[in-house]
Amino acid sequence: MRIVVFGGDGFCGWPTSLHLSNLGHEVKIVDNLSRRNIDNELECQSLTPISTISNRIQTWKEISNKHIEFENLDIATEYCRLLDLLTNYKPDAVVHFAEQRAAPYSMKSPKHKIYTVQNNLNATHNILCAIVESGIDIHLVHLGTMGVYGYTTSGMKIPEGYLDVEIPSESTRLKSRILYPASPGSIYHMTKTQDALFFQFYSNNDGLRITDLHQGVVWGTNTKETNLDERLINRFDYDGDYGTVLNRFLMQSAIDFPLTVYGSGGQTRAFIHIQDTVKCIQLALENAPKSGEPVHIFNQVTETFRVRDLAELVAQLTGTPVQRVDNPRIEADENELEVENEKFMKLGLDPITLSEGLLMEIKQVAEKYSHRCDKDKIMPKSKWRN
Ligand SMILES: NC(=O)c1ccc[n+]([C@@H]2O[C@H](COP(=O)([O-])OP(=O)(O)OC[C@H]3O[C@@H](n4cnc5c(N)ncnc54)[C@H](O)[C@@H]3O)[C@@H](O)[C@H]2O)c1
Repeated sequence: MRIVVFGGDGFCGWPTSLHLSNLGHEVKIVDNLSRRNIDNELECQSLTPISTISNRIQTWKEISNKHIEFENLDIATEYCRLLDLLTNYKPDAVVHFAEQRAAPYSMKSPKHKIYTVQNNLNATHNILCAIVESGIDIHLVHLGTMGVYGYTTSGMKIPEGYLDVEIPSESTRLKSRILYPASPGSIYHMTKTQDALFFQFYSNNDGLRITDLHQGVVWGTNTKETNLDERLINRFDYDGDYGTVLNRFLMQSAIDFPLTVYGSGGQTRAFIHIQDTVKCIQLALENAPKSGEPVHIFNQVTETFRVRDLAELVAQLTGTPVQRVDNPRIEADENELEVENEKFMKLGLDPITLSEGLLMEIKQVAEKYSHRCDKDKIMPKSKWRN
């Protein structure tokens, strides 16, 4: 396939681009490098030393003899260039990672709220609009989040995107299939719930073929391909805004910094290893919806854990103490979370589950680069409410 990866310089997008290229697909990365600029704004770099995008691509060429193209383009603001790109490159599929993805960053200030809304909604809508205008039959695979379902105990196994309901009326009960009610917990999550409505509209109105992946919290850093050369190394975010919970704990244990559990730590979240992320995207691309089919929605998760249990596990393995921190977020202190993930399992996903070996491997990566850590960036600084 010929595939455009929007956001292909990011934490999930870079390993996915390499994985798809390794499988023999023709890959073009489109990214405006805004995430690298946010590193500059926050004065915090990835723990791992990531190479420039040209260096990454040149290294991949040396190692695999495969070429990945790159174009620096802001898909939220440069609609005409985006349309030209689709019209000229004629991809079979596009994978859309190109959004501001940190909930804490989206809640930092009015400026950050507005940026997240403008960037994420325009990025998604511009892609949809350009696919229609190009007249090319392009399959869109989008990275959404489990957070669209909300994190309060639902009393049921969260289905994959849709809910079958009965609407009581005076004479009869009408059956309907609706999008699972959205319940965003941050401005970032709100943009993802709006994305889902865009997809429903463009699927119904224009017959676009769309797959929306409701992904859990990603952990791990390297994949088979990024491990091939240090210049291909993936990002490792550890700061209070961008660091995801398990990676933060592993990094904190690497520098003997007490593990930061927000509130009671009773929050249950869904997780997936970065190697499974790239596999799931491959499976989604290989199993595209047919024209006229409703949006395919998959829960891209492999396990669920309570945050304090994860902290205890890392504490036992590494001897690092746990510290309770005031929760900067407005969220349920305790919640149950059961999630269906049958669709990817049926397509052949063999999940990588949390193991002592893998945790220690990630801790070793964190130890290797611990001299790059700025301890001042570890504690959460963005608050949901002042
Ligand atoms: N990392 C996780 O744990 C996680 C969990 C669930 C869902 N997701 C979703 O996966 C996607 C990728 O996440 P990530 O962790 O790789 O994030 P990331 O910030 O590392 O990568 C996003 C990339 O998109 C680029 N980008 C952003 N706006 C753009 C624009 N307007 N034009 C062009 N490029 C733009 C950035 O420069 C960056 O390289 C996001 O949409 C996120 O919501 C991530």
